[in-house]
Amino acid sequence: MTEDKLQDHKTPAIYRCAYPAPYPEVKVTAPNPYYATLLLEDYAGQVSELSAINQYVYHHVVLEPDFEEVADLLECIALVEMHHLEILAETILMLGVDPRYRTIAKNETEQYWDASFVYYGTSLCDRLTADIASEWAAIANYRRHQNMINDPYIRNILERIILDELHHIMLFNQMVDKYCRPQMQRE
Ligand SMILES: [Fe+2]
Ligand SMILES: [Fe+2]
Repeated sequence: MTEDKLQDHKTPAIYRCAYPAPYPEVKVTAPNPYYATLLLEDYAGQVSELSAINQYVYHHVVLEPDFEEVADLLECIALVEMHHLEILAETILMLGVDPRYRTIAKNETEQYWDASFVYYGTSLCDRLTADIASEWAAIANYRRHQNMINDPYIRNILERIILDELHHIMLFNQMVDKYCRPQMQRE
């Protein structure tokens, strides 16, 4: 397949829910296991890309019968989170650490990702509220890690991911305005 075809093939769903800007090349200045352990939290910790993917796919499935528009958005955003997961995995590997789905504490204890990290929820609006909160929490962690990682390539990658997370908050808020605000006003 030519490069052009590959680009075309990429365009649909993923980029509908990504901020319209290119991604920087995945690159690191030098291997650094400490930086990798920080990124493992964003990758497979409690608030992480892996949690977001699983939470959004679950919300997509359970909301699809009644709220197709929201369900479609969740699937589309989950694909972008999958791209973030891949970018972080490649970065962690370049930093010299195996990107298994786990975090590593200071005493070297590993905690593997757990399905209890997902907020399952009970209704449309509490799920959307949790999804927005998880985007904000992810941004806060990315900002904290940006300040701890003295590698311009990684800082740049995190900055680009943050743009997507802000875009997701905007998209989720549109759904809250449409499906949840009228209900709140009536209550
Ligand atoms: Fe993400
Ligand atoms: Fe996101």
